Amino acid sequence: MTSNAPHVIELQDICTSYDQGKTFIIKDFNMVVEDVPDSGEFIVLLGKSGCGKTTLLKYIAGLATPYSGRILIRGNSREQSPPISMVFQEPSALEHYSVLKNVMLPLLYRGMAESEAAERAMNMVKAVGLEGHEHKYAKFGKLSGGQLQRVVIARSLIANPGIVLLDEPNRGLDNDTGLQINLLIATLWRQLQSTILLVTHQIEQAVFLGTKLFVMGGKPASLVRQIDVKLPVPRTRETLHSREFLEIKNQIDDLMFQL
Ligand SMILES: Nc1ncnc2c1ncn2[C@@H]1O[C@H](COP(=O)(O)OP(=O)(O)OP(=O)(O)O)[C@@H](O)[C@H]1O
Ligand SMILES: [Mg+2]
Repeated sequence: MTSNAPHVIELQDICTSYDQGKTFIIKDFNMVVEDVPDSGEFIVLLGKSGCGKTTLLKYIAGLATPYSGRILIRGNSREQSPPISMVFQEPSALEHYSVLKNVMLPLLYRGMAESEAAERAMNMVKAVGLEGHEHKYAKFGKLSGGQLQRVVIARSLIANPGIVLLDEPNRGLDNDTGLQINLLIATLWRQLQSTILLVTHQIEQAVFLGTKLFVMGGKPASLVRQIDVKLPVPRTRETLHSREFLEIKNQIDDLMFQL
């Protein structure tokens, strides 16, 4: 069910050009992420390497501006909305701070008292499964790649629980750790009822996690398909064997092959 509230994210005719409009990487990309009360959407963005997925996420986050087109966040222009933090393809925890401090930072920037920030951050540290690691430095050697991504996920969720942007958060992790990160994201999504926008190359995981899939492709890239995944939530092992799951997965496999 959707509400009358403004769309959570709306991209209108987004174009990316690095040569003043002579050539385009993204052309007329349109996407609407609706407000779904009491659950939030889990959006997955798919597309071949280099088509512009990270670029789009940076526009939504407010880290970059498109050549042309409009970005609306809950009905407000990008300039009128605060930045949205983003979990990058590469681990981006601040390594000279502890795990807890990393997660506290967005709250401290906002002026929250140290003790309250620490308490709230600690709850998030627990939610991402890092209890016991909170006083370690957030760096390789002290934490694994999967643990470092958990720090960044926790920091992002604390900063803006309403919208979470995740750019291949399990790239570079082994399969099992990557799966654990995906399951963590699915659990946090159900708990927080946020809108999640995840970029991934893994089609099976996209269908397993997503409520709506956007596939971008073409040269220049635009939106080529939007697929609603109407599988029951939470998804389970049975989901992976259901006919509906396999149908959607095969449909996307075929589509990606043609792109
Ligand atoms: N400053 C720039 N000048 C010219 N081209 C650029 C610039 N920055 C990015 N690009 C191009 O924009 C395209 C989109 O890059 P982007 O990182 O968004 O792709 P992606 O879909 O996230 O790829 P991947 O799946 O590999 O992460 C790429 O082809 C890249 O070469
Ligand atoms: Mg990318």
